[in-house]
Amino acid sequence: MKNQGLELLPQAMDVDKQARAALKRQKPLCVWFTGLSGAGKSTIANLLEKRLYAEGKHTYILDGDNVRCGLNCDLGFTEAHRAENIRRVAEVAKLMVDAGLIVLVSLISPIRDQRRFARRLFAEGEFIEVFVDAPFEECARRDPKGLYARVKRGEIKNFTGIDSLYEPPESPEIHLRTAEADPEACVKTVLQYLRLRLDIGS
Ligand code: ADX
Repeated sequence: MKNQGLELLPQAMDVDKQARAALKRQKPLCVWFTGLSGAGKSTIANLLEKRLYAEGKHTYILDGDNVRCGLNCDLGFTEAHRAENIRRVAEVAKLMVDAGLIVLVSLISPIRDQRRFARRLFAEGEFIEVFVDAPFEECARRDPKGLYARVKRGEIKNFTGIDSLYEPPESPEIHLRTAEADPEACVKTVLQYLRLRLDIGS
């Protein structure tokens, strides 16, 4: 591993991911929600966390709007800034998975290559991409934060789905269509996937 031209050797620690996960009685995971603003990522992640929490699971949500208030408050919405936003969140999610947590990431994360970068940080089966899919017109109609209206008034530039690209996932582990299924049903789909394939227990 290189850093500023210097070779770095990661330090081996005695308490490892497996040990931390065993203590929490769960399989650490990164569940990565991607989709347009207003598609329902945060709503579904929030509801999913409530369900997991009620089952005694140790979780954390990394949400774009929240992370951008602190760790990533220096980043805007250009292509380069979004890439850095996603890189940092992916690295933080990796640390949290290493700590034994089930991490729910809720980021527009519009570019396939950037989501691929995130996936590669994790072990096989540890990264679950969830496409939160709603037609652009439906997201603009919902407009929960009034942002689509502000874009129309010319107050916001580089808005995803308007003048900034969104590349839908080609083979996400889970595809949710939020114009057709309500948040409860979507969470049920995610939980079914988690239970069947990854044996996180109930
Ligand atoms: S990402 O593209 O870098 O993954 P992220 O999920 O962190 O985006 O942030 C998206 C949130 O920022 C949206 O839910 C919305 O509230 C807000 N936002 C502000 N400006 C923009 C914009 N130009 N494009 C998209 N979202 C924006």
